[in-house]
Amino acid sequence: MTARTTDNYLNGTTNKTNEDSGLDESGSISERVLSRIFLGLVAALFVHCPEALIFAAFVVTLETIFERVFVRLAFDVSAWFRRLWYLRRLEIAPGYNFAIGHTKPLFEAVGKYPCTWDLFAKWSVAAQPRPVRVQIFTRHCVVIADPVSIKRVFNTNIKNYGKDTEFAYNPFLDILGTGLVTSEGESWRRQRQRISQALRMEILDDVVDISTRAVNRLSEKLEKIRGTGKEIELAEEFRLLTLQVIGEAILSLSPEESDEVMPELYLPIMEECNRRSLEPWRTFLPTKAFFEHKSRVKKLNAYITKLIRKRWKTKHSATAVPNENDSIDNPHADILDRVLADVPKSEYGPEVERQMCDEIKTFLLAGHETSAAMLIWTMWELTKSPEKMKIATDEAKRVYKNFSSSPSSPLSKKQTTTATTTKEEKEGRDHPSRDELNQLEYIVGALKESLRLYSVVPVVTRKCLGDDYLGGDFIPKGTTVIISVQGVHHREDLWKNAQYFEPKRFVGNETDETGNYSYLPFIQGPRNCLGQYLALLEARVVMANLLRKFTFKSSRESNGAKHTKMIPIAPNDGMWFTVS
Ligand code: HEM
Repeated sequence: MTARTTDNYLNGTTNKTNEDSGLDESGSISERVLSRIFLGLVAALFVHCPEALIFAAFVVTLETIFERVFVRLAFDVSAWFRRLWYLRRLEIAPGYNFAIGHTKPLFEAVGKYPCTWDLFAKWSVAAQPRPVRVQIFTRHCVVIADPVSIKRVFNTNIKNYGKDTEFAYNPFLDILGTGLVTSEGESWRRQRQRISQALRMEILDDVVDISTRAVNRLSEKLEKIRGTGKEIELAEEFRLLTLQVIGEAILSLSPEESDEVMPELYLPIMEECNRRSLEPWRTFLPTKAFFEHKSRVKKLNAYITKLIRKRWKTKHSATAVPNENDSIDNPHADILDRVLADVPKSEYGPEVERQMCDEIKTFLLAGHETSAAMLIWTMWELTKSPEKMKIATDEAKRVYKNFSSSPSSPLSKKQTTTATTTKEEKEGRDHPSRDELNQLEYIVGALKESLRLYSVVPVVTRKCLGDDYLGGDFIPKGTTVIISVQGVHHREDLWKNAQYFEPKRFVGNETDETGNYSYLPFIQGPRNCLGQYLALLEARVVMANLLRKFTFKSSRESNGAKHTKMIPIAPNDGMWFTVS
């Protein structure tokens, strides 16, 4: 066990900016001056008259109220006008109203096409390389779709751009808490280092095994309806599959446990969080949904904390074999084991449990819906084009040629071998090696292309912590910067025939992905997605297995329509297929 301290967990609670905590510069100076004057006053009065102490306490309370409310308010209002003053020079998006900014056009777009994300893309592409100004209620924002400015935000001046926990991430804080996605500064650095270690290369081998088992289970389901004309809603199946994979990789949850707990607890929480993004009043209105959500969050936290506690006890029980299944050196430890291996016994306690619970929920959130969305859009695009589908299917059959294509697990170690059993199967392997899986170039190209075309995370937001320049324009401190990932992905000058699905863009051509900030599904720079290799590996295993075993046919007119309210972008009415 490594002897690191757990201040990385504890620090998780202290990642607010000065401004968030109310200790902005002007506030702290005035607070210090005022409190010294009052202390002097108290001392002087106390010497002459003890009753003065009560009076002094009263005055100090008033001072605190004054300090907290009025000074802070005055500071906020002046900062707001300062932003307005500088941002007025920028191009402004259409539909502006002085009182409520662009709230009306943005809210009118909810539930329609072009939806909110489409508007951000349209406005920012029209203004690029300059930012376009947008105001949501009283919040001053700029939207950008220029790779040079985006590189500045995500990389070269990253210190100036904090995570936007009071705005975009706010409705999701019940899940994200102070986990990796929302943490900042030193706390983020430590968490990121620790989790990158847990996601080391060898866990990716386990991900191939886990994904193979998951797609075999789905194949058994599909086999039952093969050729019957019965439909299956594949978007939901992918959601459950990716949850099973991430649940097993992090917590060694069995698929049955995953299917039981997640749809009942986790998925409704996510749904409510998503609704709160566009209907913010749901966060505080004491409705039935509000209390149900609260109770589910409590139950999910209790469930995960119980798992953490149980694992910790097993690791440290008198009978536990040292280093068995509890160290980052054990290649079959799950992510929880690997993270727990970093916690010294003396530091373990409720605060560590809380922080780990946030991290596990973060992984569940970050790691399943995005991957499910990538899978479903890829399947949809391939079924629309017989020619592309054939290339992908041939490739899958070629790479998996030494493995049985029966719907369930091709060969378990207990099964007897037959004359047709291949060398790989005799060795007990039921899937190609990681190197062989790299030959699924076209399928990986199709996955990456669907991430570009559908931009499953269409916007990413940051808060500007100090004055800066983007696209030649002055951006004052406190402005919310909205990076229109969809805008960049759909720019015709960056992507030829940008609206056309073409997996070949990514075959044998890595240049679009690295360094030039025009391909951003996982963003780029130091805060890029930590699970991107896991996601692409899992998805290629799933896709290759489904394509080599089954033929999918779209069975509903409504297929292909994008949801207008949810991130990641999922199908609006599910995605229905028949299977042969
Ligand atoms: C197709 C699948 C995925 C997509 C499109 C995706 C996309 C993203 C994006 C856009 C971000 C940046 C968010 C921001 O900075 O505001 C991000 C961060 C992150 N993702 Fe993913 N993700 C995917 C899969 C996964 C998986 C499978 C995992 C976990 C196993 C994961 C874990 C994370 C984590 C931990 C971060 C935060 C990194 C940091 O802030 O240092 N993601 N992802």
